[in-house]
Amino acid sequence: MESKRTRAIQKFQTWAADMTCPICHNPLAWSDNQVRCSNNHSFDLAKQGYVNLAPNHQETHYNKDLFESRYRIMAEALLYDGIYDDMLALLTAQGIQLSNGHPANIIDLGTGEGTHLHHFVDAWGKRTGTAEEELAVNALGLDLAKDGILVAAKHYTNTLWMVADLSQIPLKDASIDGALTILSPSNYPELQRVMKENAWFIKVIPGPHYLRELREIVIADEADRLQDPAPSTEKFRAAFRNVTSAHYERVVPLNPEQMADLIKMTPLMWHADADQIANATALDHITIDLMLLFGQK
Ligand SMILES: C[S@@+](CC[C@H](N)C(=O)[O-])C[C@H]1O[C@@H](n2cnc3c(N)ncnc32)[C@H](O)[C@@H]1O
Ligand SMILES: [Zn+2]
Repeated sequence: MESKRTRAIQKFQTWAADMTCPICHNPLAWSDNQVRCSNNHSFDLAKQGYVNLAPNHQETHYNKDLFESRYRIMAEALLYDGIYDDMLALLTAQGIQLSNGHPANIIDLGTGEGTHLHHFVDAWGKRTGTAEEELAVNALGLDLAKDGILVAAKHYTNTLWMVADLSQIPLKDASIDGALTILSPSNYPELQRVMKENAWFIKVIPGPHYLRELREIVIADEADRLQDPAPSTEKFRAAFRNVTSAHYERVVPLNPEQMADLIKMTPLMWHADADQIANATALDHITIDLMLLFGQK
């Protein structure tokens, strides 16, 4: 079986022509067993199967434990089941061709532990009837948290996994056909720099009732419990063309282990006290309410 590193080198090669050095912005290439630019800045392509292009080590609130919880709840409890098809439906409704003879370069910014991108690529392959989904889509998952990328690379190989900063994307101008961001921050000027003309962007943000049962436990004031998607939506409308949206809402049953994972992975619960954690642990379902915003450059 080919090693994770060999596989990541192959995936790197599919992106190499579009990659730039995060330090000097010169082109990057695979040379002498390393990722390197013409100024000899070199970067690690780890045996675990990812490339590290973060300028220096960054500490984040997100650690390995959290990403393992996130993996279990996203991949095994299928917390967002069905959203990948909804995202593809948004694309096709807007006339985006899922297969046009060469793979689309797509990027997931703030990919976390990569489950959403993995399932999105998988669903894309199924829609196009391509057994090898990589023939239809060339995917790159990027996150600043190395622990998230480590978990992604451990479980999934249909994507190039990269530690990098979404506000300094190590790609050439106009190099991507499409981008995703799911519950992660955005930097629109930097994203638009790497988008081709007409490239699409789907941003997923919390809807009014996202995690409503947890919010009822930790937020005292009823009025403060509703998530208001309006400010993010307005910013999105101002930045992109052909904006449209879809709403995804499900109540998902969870067993006690899954509820414990949800509590661990949710920033909302990081400052909860013991009583609040106990009340949350006793829940047996959760509301997932998301807005999918679609726009084009
Ligand atoms: C709430 S998590 C969402 C993760 C994943 N998209 C999901 O929905 O499961 C937010 C993610 O954004 C990442 N992030 C925050 N700032 C970032 C930056 N400047 N560059 C890259 N990733 C960033 C965090 O490391 C974290 O993984
Ligand atoms: Zn360089």
